[in-house]
Amino acid sequence: MDSKSDTLLSENKKLKEELKELKQELAQSKKLSILGTMASSIAHEIKNPLVAVKTFFDLLPTKYEDEEFRGNFSLVVKREVERINELVTQLLDFARPKKPVFEKVQVDELVKHTLDLLSLQSKDTNVDVVTKESKEAFSVKADREQISRVFTNIALNSIQAMHNGGQLEISTLVNKTKVETRFSDNGPGITKENLEKIFEPFFSTKHKGSGLGLSICQQIVQDHNGEIKVKSTSSGTAFSIILPIYK
Ligand SMILES: Nc1ncnc2c1ncn2[C@@H]1O[C@H](COP(=O)(O)OP(=O)(O)OP(=O)(O)O)[C@@H](O)[C@H]1O
Ligand SMILES: [Mg+2]
Repeated sequence: MDSKSDTLLSENKKLKEELKELKQELAQSKKLSILGTMASSIAHEIKNPLVAVKTFFDLLPTKYEDEEFRGNFSLVVKREVERINELVTQLLDFARPKKPVFEKVQVDELVKHTLDLLSLQSKDTNVDVVTKESKEAFSVKADREQISRVFTNIALNSIQAMHNGGQLEISTLVNKTKVETRFSDNGPGITKENLEKIFEPFFSTKHKGSGLGLSICQQIVQDHNGEIKVKSTSSGTAFSIILPIYK
Protein backbone atom coordinates (compact mmCIF):
# COMPACT_ATOMS: atom_id res chain seq x y z
CA MET A 1 0.00 0.00 0.00
CA ASP A 2 1.38 3.47 -0.81
CA SER A 3 1.80 6.17 1.79
CA LYS A 4 -1.12 8.19 0.41
CA SER A 5 -3.62 5.43 1.12
CA ASP A 6 -1.96 4.88 4.49
CA THR A 7 -2.64 8.51 5.38
CA LEU A 8 -6.21 8.23 4.12
CA LEU A 9 -6.79 5.15 6.22
CA SER A 10 -5.50 6.76 9.40
CA GLU A 11 -7.51 9.94 8.65
CA ASN A 12 -10.59 7.76 8.25
CA LYS A 13 -9.89 6.00 11.56
CA LYS A 14 -9.41 9.34 13.31
CA LEU A 15 -12.69 10.66 11.90
CA LYS A 16 -14.54 7.54 13.01
CA GLU A 17 -13.18 7.91 16.54
CA GLU A 18 -14.14 11.58 16.62
CA LEU A 19 -17.64 10.68 15.44
CA LYS A 20 -17.94 8.01 18.15
CA GLU A 21 -16.88 10.55 20.81
CA LEU A 22 -19.36 13.12 19.48
CA LYS A 23 -22.17 10.57 19.56
CA GLN A 24 -21.29 9.70 23.16
CA GLU A 25 -21.28 13.38 24.13
CA LEU A 26 -24.66 13.87 22.47
CA ALA A 27 -26.14 10.85 24.25
CA GLN A 28 -24.77 12.15 27.55
CA SER A 29 -26.24 15.63 27.13
CA LYS A 30 -29.60 14.15 26.05
CA LYS A 31 -29.59 12.08 29.21
CA LEU A 32 -28.79 15.04 31.44
CA SER A 33 -31.59 17.04 29.88
CA ILE A 34 -34.02 14.13 30.45
CA LEU A 35 -32.88 13.97 34.07
CA GLY A 36 -33.42 17.72 34.36
CA THR A 37 -37.01 17.59 33.16
CA MET A 38 -37.67 14.50 35.27
CA ALA A 39 -36.18 16.02 38.44
CA SER A 40 -39.53 16.76 40.07
CA SER A 41 -40.97 13.30 39.52
CA ILE A 42 -37.70 11.76 40.72
CA ALA A 43 -37.88 13.90 43.85
CA HIS A 44 -41.47 12.73 44.30
CA GLU A 45 -40.44 9.06 43.96
CA ILE A 46 -37.88 9.56 46.72
CA LYS A 47 -40.09 11.70 48.89
CA ASN A 48 -42.91 9.12 49.16
CA PRO A 49 -40.84 6.45 50.89
CA LEU A 50 -39.13 9.14 52.99
CA VAL A 51 -42.49 10.37 54.28
CA ALA A 52 -43.39 6.80 55.28
CA VAL A 53 -40.11 6.46 57.18
CA LYS A 54 -40.51 9.85 58.86
CA THR A 55 -44.07 9.07 59.98
CA PHE A 56 -42.90 5.90 61.69
CA PHE A 57 -39.99 7.69 63.31
CA ASP A 58 -42.24 10.43 64.68
CA LEU A 59 -44.48 7.80 66.27
CA LEU A 60 -41.65 5.75 67.69
CA PRO A 61 -41.19 7.54 71.08
CA THR A 62 -44.85 7.13 72.06
CA LYS A 63 -45.35 3.67 70.57
CA TYR A 64 -42.08 2.06 71.48
CA GLU A 65 -43.68 -0.43 73.91
CA ASP A 66 -46.21 -1.60 71.27
CA GLU A 67 -44.81 -4.83 69.86
CA GLU A 68 -46.99 -4.83 66.76
CA PHE A 69 -45.87 -1.29 65.97
CA ARG A 70 -42.22 -2.29 66.33
CA GLY A 71 -42.79 -5.20 63.94
CA ASN A 72 -44.42 -2.95 61.35
CA PHE A 73 -41.76 -0.31 61.90
CA SER A 74 -38.88 -2.57 60.97
CA LEU A 75 -40.74 -4.00 57.97
CA VAL A 76 -41.85 -0.68 56.50
CA VAL A 77 -38.64 1.22 57.18
CA LYS A 78 -36.51 -1.56 55.68
CA ARG A 79 -38.71 -1.81 52.56
CA GLU A 80 -38.89 1.95 51.98
CA VAL A 81 -35.18 2.53 52.55
CA GLU A 82 -34.43 -0.28 50.08
CA ARG A 83 -36.71 1.40 47.55
CA ILE A 84 -34.84 4.70 47.87
CA ASN A 85 -31.51 2.92 47.66
CA GLU A 86 -32.53 1.07 44.50
CA LEU A 87 -33.85 4.19 42.84
CA VAL A 88 -30.76 6.26 43.62
CA THR A 89 -28.47 3.45 42.39
CA GLN A 90 -30.43 3.25 39.14
CA LEU A 91 -30.33 7.01 38.68
CA LEU A 92 -26.57 7.06 39.14
CA ASP A 93 -26.13 4.19 36.67
CA PHE A 94 -28.28 6.03 34.18
CA ALA A 95 -26.67 9.45 34.57
CA ARG A 96 -23.06 8.30 34.72
CA PRO A 97 -22.64 4.79 33.37
CA LYS A 98 -19.36 3.13 34.28
CA LYS A 99 -16.99 2.10 31.48
CA PRO A 100 -17.07 -1.68 31.12
CA VAL A 101 -14.00 -3.59 32.27
CA PHE A 102 -13.81 -6.39 29.71
CA GLU A 103 -12.79 -9.95 30.44
CA LYS A 104 -13.53 -13.42 29.13
CA VAL A 105 -16.88 -14.44 30.61
CA GLN A 106 -18.55 -17.80 30.16
CA VAL A 107 -22.21 -17.22 29.31
CA ASP A 108 -23.69 -20.32 30.96
CA GLU A 109 -21.87 -19.45 34.18
CA LEU A 110 -23.32 -15.95 34.04
CA VAL A 111 -26.82 -17.35 33.52
CA LYS A 112 -26.35 -19.56 36.58
CA HIS A 113 -25.16 -16.57 38.62
CA THR A 114 -28.24 -14.63 37.46
CA LEU A 115 -30.51 -17.45 38.63
CA ASP A 116 -28.87 -17.38 42.06
CA LEU A 117 -29.46 -13.63 42.32
CA LEU A 118 -33.04 -14.05 41.12
CA SER A 119 -33.89 -16.72 43.63
CA LEU A 120 -32.93 -14.22 46.33
CA GLN A 121 -34.90 -11.34 44.81
CA SER A 122 -38.08 -13.13 43.79
CA LYS A 123 -38.72 -15.90 46.25
CA ASP A 124 -42.50 -15.79 46.30
CA THR A 125 -43.42 -16.14 42.64
CA ASN A 126 -44.90 -19.15 40.93
CA VAL A 127 -42.78 -18.75 37.84
CA ASP A 128 -40.78 -21.73 36.67
CA VAL A 129 -37.35 -20.82 35.38
CA VAL A 130 -35.80 -23.32 32.98
CA THR A 131 -32.44 -23.04 31.27
CA LYS A 132 -31.35 -24.51 27.95
CA GLU A 133 -27.61 -24.37 27.75
CA SER A 134 -25.66 -24.48 24.50
CA LYS A 135 -23.90 -27.79 23.74
CA GLU A 136 -20.49 -26.23 24.24
CA ALA A 137 -19.54 -23.57 26.75
CA PHE A 138 -19.07 -20.23 24.98
CA SER A 139 -17.58 -17.04 26.27
CA VAL A 140 -18.17 -13.40 25.50
CA LYS A 141 -16.03 -10.33 25.91
CA ALA A 142 -17.85 -8.59 28.71
CA ASP A 143 -17.91 -6.81 32.04
CA ARG A 144 -19.17 -9.62 34.27
CA GLU A 145 -21.00 -7.42 36.74
CA GLN A 146 -22.67 -5.24 34.10
CA ILE A 147 -23.95 -8.13 31.97
CA SER A 148 -25.13 -9.89 35.08
CA ARG A 149 -27.20 -6.76 35.84
CA VAL A 150 -28.64 -6.83 32.32
CA PHE A 151 -29.63 -10.50 32.63
CA THR A 152 -31.16 -9.93 36.08
CA ASN A 153 -33.15 -6.89 34.91
CA ILE A 154 -34.53 -8.68 31.85
CA ALA A 155 -35.40 -11.82 33.81
CA LEU A 156 -37.03 -9.78 36.61
CA ASN A 157 -39.18 -7.97 34.04
CA SER A 158 -40.40 -11.35 32.76
CA ILE A 159 -41.13 -12.62 36.25
CA GLN A 160 -42.96 -9.39 37.12
CA ALA A 161 -45.00 -9.67 33.89
CA MET A 162 -46.19 -13.16 34.84
CA HIS A 163 -47.83 -12.29 38.15
CA ASN A 164 -50.22 -15.20 37.74
CA GLY A 165 -47.39 -17.64 37.18
CA GLY A 166 -45.81 -19.00 34.02
CA GLN A 167 -42.52 -20.08 32.58
CA LEU A 168 -39.32 -18.24 31.84
CA GLU A 169 -36.93 -20.04 29.53
CA ILE A 170 -33.34 -18.87 29.27
CA SER A 171 -31.43 -20.30 26.33
CA THR A 172 -28.02 -19.70 24.80
CA LEU A 173 -27.54 -19.78 21.02
CA VAL A 174 -24.29 -19.35 19.19
CA ASN A 175 -23.02 -18.52 15.73
CA LYS A 176 -19.53 -17.76 14.43
CA THR A 177 -19.23 -14.26 15.81
CA LYS A 178 -22.00 -13.82 18.36
CA VAL A 179 -23.58 -15.38 21.41
CA GLU A 180 -27.29 -14.81 21.98
CA THR A 181 -28.92 -15.24 25.38
CA ARG A 182 -32.68 -15.39 24.99
CA PHE A 183 -35.22 -14.85 27.77
CA SER A 184 -38.67 -16.10 26.67
CA ASP A 185 -41.71 -15.79 28.89
CA ASN A 186 -45.36 -16.66 28.44
CA GLY A 187 -46.63 -13.49 30.06
CA PRO A 188 -49.23 -11.12 28.58
CA GLY A 189 -46.83 -9.55 26.07
CA ILE A 190 -46.23 -5.87 25.26
CA THR A 191 -48.63 -3.88 23.09
CA LYS A 192 -47.36 -2.51 19.79
CA GLU A 193 -47.71 1.03 21.13
CA ASN A 194 -45.72 0.29 24.30
CA LEU A 195 -43.09 -1.67 22.41
CA GLU A 196 -41.88 1.59 20.88
CA LYS A 197 -41.38 3.13 24.32
CA ILE A 198 -39.95 0.41 26.55
CA PHE A 199 -36.34 1.55 26.10
CA GLU A 200 -37.17 5.16 26.90
CA PRO A 201 -35.95 6.23 30.31
CA PHE A 202 -38.78 6.48 32.89
CA PHE A 203 -41.30 4.58 30.76
CA SER A 204 -43.04 2.12 33.04
CA THR A 205 -46.45 0.46 33.26
CA LYS A 206 -45.80 -0.64 36.84
CA HIS A 207 -47.08 0.98 39.97
CA LYS A 208 -43.64 1.14 41.56
CA GLY A 209 -41.39 0.89 38.50
CA SER A 210 -38.78 3.56 37.83
CA GLY A 211 -38.76 2.70 34.12
CA LEU A 212 -34.97 2.88 34.07
CA GLY A 213 -34.29 -0.86 33.87
CA LEU A 214 -34.33 -1.34 30.11
CA SER A 215 -32.68 1.96 29.24
CA ILE A 216 -29.75 1.04 31.52
CA CYS A 217 -29.64 -2.44 29.92
CA GLN A 218 -29.54 -0.93 26.46
CA GLN A 219 -26.74 1.46 27.40
CA ILE A 220 -24.67 -1.38 28.86
CA VAL A 221 -25.22 -3.67 25.86
CA GLN A 222 -24.32 -0.86 23.43
CA ASP A 223 -21.10 -0.24 25.38
CA HIS A 224 -20.35 -3.93 24.77
CA ASN A 225 -20.87 -3.54 20.99
CA GLY A 226 -23.87 -5.80 21.37
CA GLU A 227 -27.56 -5.63 20.63
CA ILE A 228 -30.91 -6.16 22.41
CA LYS A 229 -33.82 -7.56 20.38
CA VAL A 230 -37.44 -7.95 21.47
CA LYS A 231 -40.28 -9.98 20.04
CA SER A 232 -43.66 -9.86 21.70
CA THR A 233 -47.11 -11.28 21.05
CA SER A 234 -50.15 -11.54 23.29
CA SER A 235 -48.89 -14.94 24.45
CA GLY A 236 -45.41 -13.93 25.50
CA THR A 237 -42.25 -11.91 25.11
CA ALA A 238 -38.69 -12.81 24.18
CA PHE A 239 -35.71 -10.55 24.84
CA SER A 240 -32.38 -11.45 23.24
CA ILE A 241 -29.04 -10.13 24.40
CA ILE A 242 -26.49 -10.56 21.62
CA LEU A 243 -22.83 -10.12 22.46
CA PRO A 244 -19.58 -10.57 20.49
CA ILE A 245 -18.06 -14.01 21.03
CA TYR A 246 -14.68 -14.24 22.78
CA LYS A 247 -12.23 -16.39 20.88
N1 LIG B 1 -41.12 -9.43 29.70
C1 LIG B 1 -41.99 -8.41 29.66
N2 LIG B 1 -43.33 -8.63 29.51
C2 LIG B 1 -44.20 -7.61 29.47
N3 LIG B 1 -43.86 -6.30 29.58
C3 LIG B 1 -42.55 -6.01 29.73
C4 LIG B 1 -41.55 -7.04 29.77
N4 LIG B 1 -40.35 -6.44 29.92
C5 LIG B 1 -40.57 -5.11 29.96
N5 LIG B 1 -41.90 -4.84 29.86
C6 LIG B 1 -42.53 -3.49 29.83
O1 LIG B 1 -41.50 -2.52 29.67
C7 LIG B 1 -41.62 -1.51 30.67
C8 LIG B 1 -40.27 -0.90 30.94
O2 LIG B 1 -39.40 -1.83 31.57
P1 LIG B 1 -38.19 -1.32 32.49
O3 LIG B 1 -37.46 -2.51 32.98
O4 LIG B 1 -37.42 -0.29 31.74
O5 LIG B 1 -38.93 -0.54 33.67
P2 LIG B 1 -39.80 -1.16 34.86
O6 LIG B 1 -39.58 -2.64 34.94
O7 LIG B 1 -41.20 -0.69 34.68
O8 LIG B 1 -39.19 -0.44 36.13
P3 LIG B 1 -37.83 -0.89 36.89
O9 LIG B 1 -37.05 -1.77 35.94
O10 LIG B 1 -37.16 0.36 37.21
O11 LIG B 1 -38.31 -1.64 38.08
C9 LIG B 1 -42.28 -2.22 31.85
O12 LIG B 1 -42.94 -1.32 32.71
C10 LIG B 1 -43.25 -3.15 31.12
O13 LIG B 1 -44.44 -2.47 30.74
MG1 LIG C 1 -37.61 -3.49 34.97
